[in-house]
Amino acid sequence: MGAPPLASEWLVLAICTIGFLAISKPIFTFVKWVWSNFLRPPKNLTTYGSWALVTGSTDGIGKALTFELASKGLNLVLVGRNPQKLQSTSNEIRERFGEKTQIKIIVIDFEKISGEEIEEQIRRETEGLDVGVLVNNVGLSAKGARFFHEVDSESMDSLMNVNMGGVSWVTKAVLPGMLKKRKGAIVNIGSGASVAVPSYPLFTVYAATKAYVAMFSRSLGVEYKKHGIDIQCQIPMLVATKLASIRRSSFFVPSPKQYSNASIRWIGYEPLCVPYWTHALEWCIMDALPESLVDRLLFRYFCDLRKKILKKESRNASLKQKS
Ligand SMILES: NC(=O)c1ccc[n+]([C@@H]2O[C@H](COP(=O)([O-])OP(=O)(O)OC[C@H]3O[C@@H](n4cnc5c(N)ncnc54)[C@H](OP(=O)(O)O)[C@@H]3O)[C@@H](O)[C@H]2O)c1
Ligand SMILES: *[C@@H]1O[C@H](CO)[C@@H](O)[C@H](O)[C@H]1NC(C)=O
Ligand SMILES: *[C@@H]1O[C@H](CO)[C@@H](O)[C@H](O)[C@H]1NC(C)=O
Ligand SMILES: *[C@@H]1O[C@H](CO)[C@@H](O)[C@H](O)[C@H]1NC(C)=O
Repeated sequence: MGAPPLASEWLVLAICTIGFLAISKPIFTFVKWVWSNFLRPPKNLTTYGSWALVTGSTDGIGKALTFELASKGLNLVLVGRNPQKLQSTSNEIRERFGEKTQIKIIVIDFEKISGEEIEEQIRRETEGLDVGVLVNNVGLSAKGARFFHEVDSESMDSLMNVNMGGVSWVTKAVLPGMLKKRKGAIVNIGSGASVAVPSYPLFTVYAATKAYVAMFSRSLGVEYKKHGIDIQCQIPMLVATKLASIRRSSFFVPSPKQYSNASIRWIGYEPLCVPYWTHALEWCIMDALPESLVDRLLFRYFCDLRKKILKKESRNASLKQKS
C-alpha cells in the first residue's frame, strides 16, 4: 500500500495538466493547419456539377482560377464586363485544354446594372447548365487612400454595387439550381482588409464591403449546410494583380497562379479560410500585435500613401494645364 499523495504531488499534477492543455491547443491547431494546407486531398469538384461560374474572370485571381477549374475537368461560365478580354481569356483556355472544356461567356458590367437585372440575366443565360461551383470573385478596390468625406459619390456607389451587389445577386441567381440538386459549392472572395485587421482606415468603404462578404458567406453557409451546399469565404491578403497595383510576386505576395493553385484545394471545406500559407502567417503575426498598435500603424501608413497620391494628382493636373 503506497502512502496517500501529498498536497505537493497534487499541485505538480495540476500544473502538468494545465501546462499540457495550454500547449496542446496550439499544437493541434498547427498540425491541422499543415494538414489542410499541404496534405489534405482536394475535393473532387466535378461531383458538385459539370460547370463552374466565375465572375471577374478576365484578369488577376479570377482568370487564374478558371484555368485551375478547367484543369479539374469543369466547363466554364466566364462572367466579365469586357467582351474582348472575355474572348481572349476563352481562347487561352481553349489553347490549353482543347475542346474538352466547354466555355460560355456572359457580359455583365456590375457597376452599370441593377441587382434584379443581374439576377435575371445570369438565370436566363445559365438555364439548363449544371452549375456546381460558383466563384464570386468580382471586386473593385478604392481608387486611392481617402478620408470618407473625400470619397466621390460615384466611386462609392460602384464599390458597393460591385463588391456587395455582385456577390449577393449572382448567388441569388445560381442558388436555386443548387438547391434543386442538393449539391453545390460557393466561394466568395473576401479580403484580409476586413477580417484580419481591427481597422482599415482611408479604405473604409472597401474594407466594409468585404466584411459584408464574410458575414454573407458564413450566415448563408449555416442556412444551406443541410442542403448539401458548401459555402465558403476565402481571404486573400495581397496578391500581385492590377487591383493591388503590384506586378511582381514575393514571399508574402503570391502571383495569381500561385494563389489560385492554393485556393482550389480549399473549396468545399471550412466556411472561412486563408488559402495561401504565407498569408496565414501574416494574419498570425497581425493577430499577435495589440489592436491599438495595428490601428495606429495602418492609419499612419495610409495617411502617407494619401499624401503621395495627392501630390501625384496635383503634378498631373499642372502638367495637363501646361499641355
Ligand atoms: N489582389 C489583391 O491583393 C486582393 C486582396 C484581397 C482581396 N482581393 C479580392 O480578390 C478579387 C479579385 O481581385 P484581383 O486582384 O484579381 O483584381 P483584378 O486583377 O483587378 O481583376 C478583377 C476582375 O474583375 C473584373 N471586374 C472589375 N470590375 C468589374 C465590373 N464592374 N463588372 C464586371 N467585371 C468587373 C475585372 O475585369 P477587367 O479585366 O475588365 O478589368 C477582372 O476580371 C476581388 O474581389 C478583390 O477584392 C484581392
Ligand atoms: C470525380 O467525380 C467524377 C463524377 O462523380 C468522376 O467521374 C471522376 O472520375 C472523379 N475524379 C476523381 C479524380 O476521382
Ligand atoms: C500546384 O502547385 C503544386 C506545388 O507547387 C504543384 O505540385 C501542382 O502541380 C500545382 N497544380 C497546378 C494545377 O498547377
Ligand atoms: C497621372 O497621369 C497618368 C497619365 O495620364 C495616369 O496614368 C495616372 O493614373 C495619373 N495619376 C494620378 C494619381 O492621377
